[in-house]
Amino acid sequence: MKHFDIKTQIYFGENALDRLSEIPYKKALIISDPYVVKSGMVHHVTSRLEQAGIEWEIFDDVVPDPPIEKISVGVQAVLKSHAEVLITIGGGSAIDSAKAIREVAGQIDPSYPRPSLIAIPTTSGTGSEVTSFSVITDTKNQTKIPLANDSLLPDEAILDAELVKTVPPNVTADTGMDVFTHALESYVSTNNNEFSAALAEKAIEITGSFLLRSYLDNNDTHARQKMHVASCLAGLAFNTASLGLNHGMAHQLGANFHIPHGRANALLLPHIIEYNSEIDKYSRLKTDYPKHVRKYATVARTLGLQNFNIVTTIRALSNWCQFMMKEMDMPLSISEMNVCTEEEYFAQIPSMAEAALKDACTKTNPRVPTVKDIEMLYMQLW
Ligand SMILES: NC(=O)c1ccc[n+]([C@@H]2O[C@H](COP(=O)([O-])OP(=O)(O)OC[C@H]3O[C@@H](n4cnc5c(N)ncnc54)[C@H](O)[C@@H]3O)[C@@H](O)[C@H]2O)c1
Ligand SMILES: [Fe+2]
Repeated sequence: MKHFDIKTQIYFGENALDRLSEIPYKKALIISDPYVVKSGMVHHVTSRLEQAGIEWEIFDDVVPDPPIEKISVGVQAVLKSHAEVLITIGGGSAIDSAKAIREVAGQIDPSYPRPSLIAIPTTSGTGSEVTSFSVITDTKNQTKIPLANDSLLPDEAILDAELVKTVPPNVTADTGMDVFTHALESYVSTNNNEFSAALAEKAIEITGSFLLRSYLDNNDTHARQKMHVASCLAGLAFNTASLGLNHGMAHQLGANFHIPHGRANALLLPHIIEYNSEIDKYSRLKTDYPKHVRKYATVARTLGLQNFNIVTTIRALSNWCQFMMKEMDMPLSISEMNVCTEEEYFAQIPSMAEAALKDACTKTNPRVPTVKDIEMLYMQLW
């Protein structure tokens, strides 16, 4: 038996933030990163809470790729605040932190009444506002731990595209490619179903039409709104279908070399598509292809890339990923990122490959990888 539901209430469209004036709580704790506070963006939240007579405090000690230590600090803040609602505003790092903080606070002090959680994304990328995942970094062991439990799901998500207009172009590029990776991996996941496929197809269609527009013009409101919705659709898709090897490998690049999550995914995409399809530039047409390979061809067609035959169509899809990266000035290899030396990178490959194989996302990849396959894929990235 399969099951599909959307537990998070989603408020979206113009003035979606006005939902905050209607919430039925007396005390809120806002969880965000320092940018959101220093830039004044947090006033979008506090002004509405004040209108509604809701008392608020801020915890802004969130850092990208949230480490376990920062979650502990957040847990203390939550237990001290006695807030009835946690409002997290920020990118995936802030939202993931709030999800983990609420979870751990409940475990440490079971007598503490579980607060509600409202997630307000300020990047169009992770879809974390509607997923039961939270990705935490174990700094000591240099790995990312994707926590997965329905209890992590936010109660409400508010999608207001005004908040993403300040996102710098490089973050728009990284997070936009994360949206595409979520949609694509969930679409070919061994756990996909018709519901996740419908959500993923729409997210792919929107990303194909609007990501580049968002990147080129921060104030293209229409494109920004579309990408903000696509991010959420892709989140809903992978929340039910899960992801694949692309994310399993990207998590290790983030944990070891602090490569932004979406950038790591983008870099891997063309390699994973060709690996999963078992094609490369020497491939000849076969008489039959597995379902996930035909699905890649469907994605290529959705992006307007229909080509001569299935091999050329799938190669067109992997070329499209690289085309997008070039158009958005993204680095095309690890060496271009200047995050480590060649020796440092290659020295980490065996442990990254082991960790990627064990990563929860890898389980639903349509091709079962070996540790050697993963090492080879990491080598191709340099
Ligand atoms: N929970 C999930 O389902 C899920 C899915 C994918 C990724 N993730 C995790 O999410 C994290 C990445 O999240 P992200 O890609 O949104 O990046 P992020 O939250 O780390 O933010 C990236 C940078 O952009 C800045 N920023 C955010 N919003 C901004 C705005 N509106 N204007 C200007 N600057 C802004 C932040 O301050 C930060 O410096 C990673 O830890 C990743 O592992 C979680
Ligand atoms: Fe992701």
